Amino acid sequence: MNLVKSRQRVADHGEVFTPSWMVEAMLDLVKGETERIDARFLEPACGSGNFLVPIVRRKLSAVELKYGASEFERRHYALLALMSVYGIELLADNILECRDNVLAVFAEYLDLGEDDALYRAALFVLSLNLVHGDALTMSDTHGVPITFAEWGYLGRGRYQRRDFRFDNLTHAASYSAEGSLFADLGKHEIFTPVKTYPPMGVSEMAALATV
Ligand SMILES: C[S@@+](CC[C@H](N)C(=O)[O-])C[C@H]1O[C@@H](n2cnc3c(N)ncnc32)[C@H](O)[C@@H]1O
Repeated sequence: MNLVKSRQRVADHGEVFTPSWMVEAMLDLVKGETERIDARFLEPACGSGNFLVPIVRRKLSAVELKYGASEFERRHYALLALMSVYGIELLADNILECRDNVLAVFAEYLDLGEDDALYRAALFVLSLNLVHGDALTMSDTHGVPITFAEWGYLGRGRYQRRDFRFDNLTHAASYSAEGSLFADLGKHEIFTPVKTYPPMGVSEMAALATV
């Protein structure tokens, strides 16, 4: 496994990838969460997905165990699993590789072709969840504050999307800390979504995929 692309990239961006044995050992520390279909993971410097890919693999194993008997549920919960992983990456080539790598695991699990609506829906989800941007400034490559889509499964093939600003989400802990100025504010007053979308099905998401 190649852990470095070039010395220059290591110097410029600290780009050294984590070996898979170490990734698996780290994920085992939160094993229960990695096997929970809708547990959310954010990798703020996700590279080409060395953490996100095995997380998706573990979640898909959980989908198979729980919903393997029903093709409809299996497909829709697999998409929910995908919807729960998030990443930010500064370098354009890495974020594209990351989306490709995660999508490949999903497509292989469900035996999807590129024209399948579920493949295109996954492409759309990953274009939102895996952000090309800067995790330190919390803005995308256009300088716009990063927002993340929170996805929920409503059943019967319908999903709910609500978008939240990343910078607000990172303040969650301080808002609820004892003695904080904001401690007595209800979370609902602080974590207002920037946008709430009408429930969507796979075909509607597939139609929004741009590539
Ligand atoms: C040490 S590598 C780790 C990649 C991956 N997490 C892994 O463990 O294999 C760090 C990654 O963070 C990216 N990066 C560096 N600064 C960043 C920033 N401010 N925001 C987002 N990504 C950044 C680099 O391009 C590189 O892909």
